[in-house]
Amino acid sequence: MTQPSDQSAALDNLLNESRAFPPSEEFAAQANATSALYAEADADREAFWAKQAERLHWDTPWTKVLDWDDAPFAKWFVGGKLNVAYNCVDRHVESGHGDQVAIHWEGEPGDRRTITYADLKREVSKAANALASLGLRAGDRVAIYMPMIPETVFAMLASARLGLTHSVVFGGFSSEALRTRIEDAEAKLVITVDGQYRRGQALPLKPAVDEAVARTPSVRNVLVVRRTGTDVDFTPDRDLWWHELVDGQSEEHTPEAFDAEHPLYILYTSGTTGKPKGILHTSGGYLTQVAYTHHNVFDLKPDTDVYWCAADVGWVTGHSYIVYGPLANRATSVMYEGTPNTPHEGRWWEIVQRYKVSILYTAPTTIRTFMKWGADIPARYDLSSLRVLGSVGEPINPEAWMWYREHIGGNRAPIVDTWWQTETGAIMISPLPGVTATKPGSAMAPLPGIAAKVVDDTGAEVGKGGGGYLVLDQPWPSMLRGIWGDDQRYRDTYWSRFAEQGYYFAGDGAKYDDDGAIWLLGRVDDVMNVSGHRISTTEVESALVSHPSVAEAAVVGATDPTTGQGIVAFVILRGDAKDQGEQVIKALRDHVSKEIGPIAKPRQIMVVPELPKTRSGKIMRRLLRDVAENRQIGDVTTLADSSVMDLISAGLKSGS
Ligand code: WT7
Repeated sequence: MTQPSDQSAALDNLLNESRAFPPSEEFAAQANATSALYAEADADREAFWAKQAERLHWDTPWTKVLDWDDAPFAKWFVGGKLNVAYNCVDRHVESGHGDQVAIHWEGEPGDRRTITYADLKREVSKAANALASLGLRAGDRVAIYMPMIPETVFAMLASARLGLTHSVVFGGFSSEALRTRIEDAEAKLVITVDGQYRRGQALPLKPAVDEAVARTPSVRNVLVVRRTGTDVDFTPDRDLWWHELVDGQSEEHTPEAFDAEHPLYILYTSGTTGKPKGILHTSGGYLTQVAYTHHNVFDLKPDTDVYWCAADVGWVTGHSYIVYGPLANRATSVMYEGTPNTPHEGRWWEIVQRYKVSILYTAPTTIRTFMKWGADIPARYDLSSLRVLGSVGEPINPEAWMWYREHIGGNRAPIVDTWWQTETGAIMISPLPGVTATKPGSAMAPLPGIAAKVVDDTGAEVGKGGGGYLVLDQPWPSMLRGIWGDDQRYRDTYWSRFAEQGYYFAGDGAKYDDDGAIWLLGRVDDVMNVSGHRISTTEVESALVSHPSVAEAAVVGATDPTTGQGIVAFVILRGDAKDQGEQVIKALRDHVSKEIGPIAKPRQIMVVPELPKTRSGKIMRRLLRDVAENRQIGDVTTLADSSVMDLISAGLKSGS
């Protein structure tokens, strides 16, 4: 494990950051959140969450807020029953808001759709009837491999409505990644598209499904939405068109109430081994916390705000803050299919201006990309509707924070830097707009109802100014309920590091500043963060060694000015591959892309004669990171052979 002190060196400048931005009086006067929330939650945490759960409609009330007897396996709102889709859709129609826009959707080529809550109810009901007609029953798993189109949301909500457990697989993942996810969850249905638009091109997606499904016997049907009109192969009896199956269905569907702990979805994320973990989320506690955080952290006013979370639904941010949180809160959202520079670099700001977006949620890597493109681009548009700005996915550097504040937020809109994870399900550490005086680069403090601490190696909390590991010391409603099919891995990964104290170990390094505000410092395990996407070093290493030219591989995340980290691989080639030069490098990059997806393609691959290892055979990534970041190589005394680093450095110099 990397010592947090290794990482904090580069981030020391963050801790000299002394600017603070208190909320304006106007904002505070109208804010959803007040400072009283902290005291209320501290006084009685369970009573606080019970009150938050009243944001939802329950068919059967719960009898107990939290059952933690079987820790780390939590049960929240024990005995309660609800339907998640009813809470996100029908109840808003029943309360007279059927004509309110739920989603302003914009496709990359410029096509648009407006979906009201009444439309959403019809579409989700039809889709639910269609899925039921395929013989799917509560508890069955459905894989959703789709781009950012309205049918993706319909498919997720239709699954939730029937008590099916969805597993959304990001459309940028490879066929092989899709296959392993389908296999792990034993999905019976895959919902996909013919093709997707990316940077102005229509790219086929269905062939990747065909390839995956050929080797996953659990799949009985493939349901295909027509998006690009590209020709696709159809396997009779297995494949069905969405428009043929769904369009003719009844618009009436009566939702059934499911247990608060009914599995809502599985979402795969990278861990420190090669095999992705299926993070399991359930219904009542999850929906409670996403609704609560979305209301308070974004200050959502459902009657007047236009909210845009510019993530992809394939990640947890999309699940919690494009689909479940905003819809539970009756938000009007914007959903955009494509890339920020198609057809031009002002596309996002054109969208903000067109729909008068008032709340925007995005990632630091995107903000840094906009910085590179220049402040003159957003300056051409009317961004005066923006009143809250959010950031998520990685630590935001003060420079990007200040740029976001000035050039997007007009020095007016508060910024909320939100720390959370796929595992936490919802935001955990964040300022509250209208309450918190923010500091550029700090996520500030745990939200009311949430407990987090920075501790040292022994699990003791560090003092102000101290650094260490971030832990969560109390269960929370939207916490993962486990890793699909692997209880032991769940205990080992999250609960064994500080088992004595019973803390959840997040895998992040963090510090308190002199005022006690929390600063996140990045991962302390072998997980990289590339453009806010989590990728494990071992996963990329396994992909590399599965190629016949590679004898051994070691992968590190090196600091990158735009993407946060970039993937750098060190490989030892097999005999004949050694003479193939650049050709083999290209082949390896393509191979990784095929095995995992384009997001995992190494930025750089270096051919080396040896890898630095400890006597017990563990690769010392710290030293490779020094090479990748062009630094003086650190302490080599624990290497089995201390001359290895000289060999590597010499080889790289003569090779370049
Ligand atoms: C990891 C979780 C949460 C949705 C997107 C990523 C890093 C996330 C922040 C932040 C510093 C952050 C952490 C965390 N991270 N948000 N505001 N400041 N770091 O979800 O793929 O599960 O990754 O992202 O390292 O552990 P994920």
